[in-house]
Amino acid sequence: MTLKALLAATATAALLLSQPASAAQLTIGFSQIGSESGWRAAETSVSKQEAAKRQVNLKIADAQQKQENQIKAIRSFIAQGVDAIFLAPVVASGWDAVLKEAKEAKIPVVLLDRDIDPSGKELYLTAVTSDSVHEGEVAGEWLAKTVGDKSCNVVELQGTVGASVATNRKKGFDSVVAKHANLKVVRSQTGDFTRAKGKEVMESFIKAEDGGKSICAVYAHNDDMMVGAIQAMKEAGLKPGKDILTVSIDAVPDIFKAMVAGEANATVELTPNMAGPALDAITAYKDKGTVPPKWIQTESKLYTPADDPQKIYESKKDLGY
Ligand code: AHR
Repeated sequence: MTLKALLAATATAALLLSQPASAAQLTIGFSQIGSESGWRAAETSVSKQEAAKRQVNLKIADAQQKQENQIKAIRSFIAQGVDAIFLAPVVASGWDAVLKEAKEAKIPVVLLDRDIDPSGKELYLTAVTSDSVHEGEVAGEWLAKTVGDKSCNVVELQGTVGASVATNRKKGFDSVVAKHANLKVVRSQTGDFTRAKGKEVMESFIKAEDGGKSICAVYAHNDDMMVGAIQAMKEAGLKPGKDILTVSIDAVPDIFKAMVAGEANATVELTPNMAGPALDAITAYKDKGTVPPKWIQTESKLYTPADDPQKIYESKKDLGY
């Protein structure tokens, strides 16, 4: 190689190295919670599709619902020198140390679908989440409107203890209950966002509440727990959706199937596409230095049997739920 050619090649290499990474080159580590619900499975599938669309290399680590596994995964992503980290935090607290390590390594972190404690605010770039307090309010307002002045004892199936969405969905619902003297939450317990635990806890609520006779409505922090609760009600000889009203969150295909059967009354949608907006934000940040807003909020829409549940079921059933 002549000296001129060598200098030209060196200049080209230097120019390429100084360019910001484009989407085609990005490698992103995603610390996913696990597969506790249909919604979570769909979020994982949609994340893979959204990454493939943008030619991003997305490495997903399944934490099997354990925070310690998420912390290990983040440390491993830092050691691998990924371009960014996506984190769906199983609980809200306990992230500061590991997120400081990511910050020191200059790796931007994006939160997906759940939030962390305010002490960690400076440690992530943006959060793509719904307003989970509002989701609880929407569920509560639907119930208040549906029962009118009738006195209504509610049992509540909470999500994972310490998860931001569980705390917030409870807070939002409780704020509506506080405004209506005829509504009362008589029992509230975690079902950990799973069908199996939702069913188990509902069975115990039914036993404790006179075979379910004194329960007017179930509020579940996700549809999977509600699907389990519906099963428990049926096994106890009750008619879910009629004897006992249901309202839950996520809008997974199975809740629409239950609506078609007349066994579920309302759900608040949570989009499983958190990764799409997160990938766009991180690409713009890496390519152009565009700093995204601290919160990228997704929509929360109420669905009832009036919304053609069969059609919605058909449109969602192959999306990875
Ligand atoms: O963080 C989102 C929640 O996590 C979903 O509503 C629930 O189904 C999932 O487990």
